[in-house]
Amino acid sequence: MIYLTTPIYYPNDRPHIGTAYTTVVADATARYWRLVGEEVYALTGTDEHGLKIALAAESHGMTPQEWVDHIVTGFHEAWDLLDLSFDDFIRTTEARHRDTVRDVLQRMHDNGDTYLSRYEGLYCVSCEAYYTESELIDGNCPQHGKPVQIHAEENWFFRLSRYAQPLLDHIAANPDFIIPETRRNEVVGFLEQGLDDISMSRASLTWGVPLPWDESQVAYVWFDALINYVSAAGYSDDPARFARQWPAWAHLVGKDILRFHAVYWPAMLMSAGIPLPRQIAAHGWLLVGGEKMSKSNATQILPEELVAVFGVDGYRYHFLRDVSFGPDSGFSWEGMVERFNADLANDLGNLANRTLNIAESYRQGQVPAVADHSAPEEQVLVAAAAGALEAMAGFGEFRSKNALEGVWRLFGAANAFLEATAPWHLAKDPAAATRLDQVLNAALEALRVGAILISPAMPGTAARLWSMLGLPGAPDEGPLAETGVFGVFPASTVIKGEPLFPRLET
Ligand code: MSP
Repeated sequence: MIYLTTPIYYPNDRPHIGTAYTTVVADATARYWRLVGEEVYALTGTDEHGLKIALAAESHGMTPQEWVDHIVTGFHEAWDLLDLSFDDFIRTTEARHRDTVRDVLQRMHDNGDTYLSRYEGLYCVSCEAYYTESELIDGNCPQHGKPVQIHAEENWFFRLSRYAQPLLDHIAANPDFIIPETRRNEVVGFLEQGLDDISMSRASLTWGVPLPWDESQVAYVWFDALINYVSAAGYSDDPARFARQWPAWAHLVGKDILRFHAVYWPAMLMSAGIPLPRQIAAHGWLLVGGEKMSKSNATQILPEELVAVFGVDGYRYHFLRDVSFGPDSGFSWEGMVERFNADLANDLGNLANRTLNIAESYRQGQVPAVADHSAPEEQVLVAAAAGALEAMAGFGEFRSKNALEGVWRLFGAANAFLEATAPWHLAKDPAAATRLDQVLNAALEALRVGAILISPAMPGTAARLWSMLGLPGAPDEGPLAETGVFGVFPASTVIKGEPLFPRLET
């Protein structure tokens, strides 16, 4: 089973294109694995406890629960707008999660990994994280540039220090545990310095999950949030499903929360005697004007602003095709318009338009079956389709850019094929009727295969193209290894319809 997770987002505002980025990548990955016949469980959700949310609620004159109930609807709306196909949405205020937090923390406690001690340290509420003096930049949080608070309380501590060596051993034995490699090296460097124990509870806060052995304290929000991944797999309420679903196939995260996922979380799991996830995959940031796009520096862009211009699939295509998974990536409207016009309006849009036009103009939409595609021009298309099918593996490994490049080589080959075979000339010559059928059939077959291959990235467009081609069922219905292979287009009635992607003005 492919159990794939996104981070659970802080419901302090509507999701922006940075938080949507991980979520769209996760959705395309999930759709790909479903397409190749794997059982998939894709999870997203919201991280609803902690000081940051308690303060956000207070500033809006609501209780924390009222606040999160209000904000979470914006997440559902945004994810629906982006056509995301998650199997589950977990909220950390749900009973299934609170029970699991208590169960897991109790096991860590029973294993002798907790102790009570006085904590004094520097805390950034926006990160919900501690910093040492030396990590601060001009006395401010290195991520947010905001002042940190001094926290001093009697807290429960987790013996994180015990786990530095076991984690190093695990990473050495499982080179793909953290990807990409640069991030793995970063974590290894951090572990090699040794780990300090860490405070895992709060005495001064009530908005959280009380520790089962000391109800006067609630779990520190990260010790609550990370556990969502096992809660949603049924750790406390569905052991049979948990046995099938866990360990997770991959946790997708942004680089800013890598340490929590690649150090704290596996240490917590080791302590509780739960197997570790297969992989932590960390991506970079979307930058606007060279800086991490965020609400706090007023560079925030909301998905709905882009969807209004590019449509949902124009949106999805951009982030899956233009952003490499791993490094930071600058976002620009100009770049997005250019890519839209070149790839969607021209390459794919024109191919569909021209091919369906030919079918309507010269064959009244009735596509004749042909015997095979053995002519040399068609063989080029067959090879391009095979290459595209191979490139599809990229979707399963967070390399959607490569996958889509492969698919676009097929569209490029199909456009070149139309130029070379010039069906509009063939149509004028009654003696070339059979050749015209051959050419038309091959071009339609390129579109049929293309519709299947774009479906993880652009499910709506794939379905629309499919119905224009007059095909029964849905493009993502069959096993990719068979349906994605270039064959003979079945006799059908095609309908030209509206252009898929009308060109945008720059
Ligand atoms: N609640 C925690 C995660 C807990 S997971 C057990 C959290 N939430 S968050 O809402 O602040 O951020 C969630 C994710 O959004 C992070 O992976 C972060 O990297 C990502 N992004 C936030 N801004 C981003 C960009 N500008 N670009 C890309 N991703 C960014 O952290």
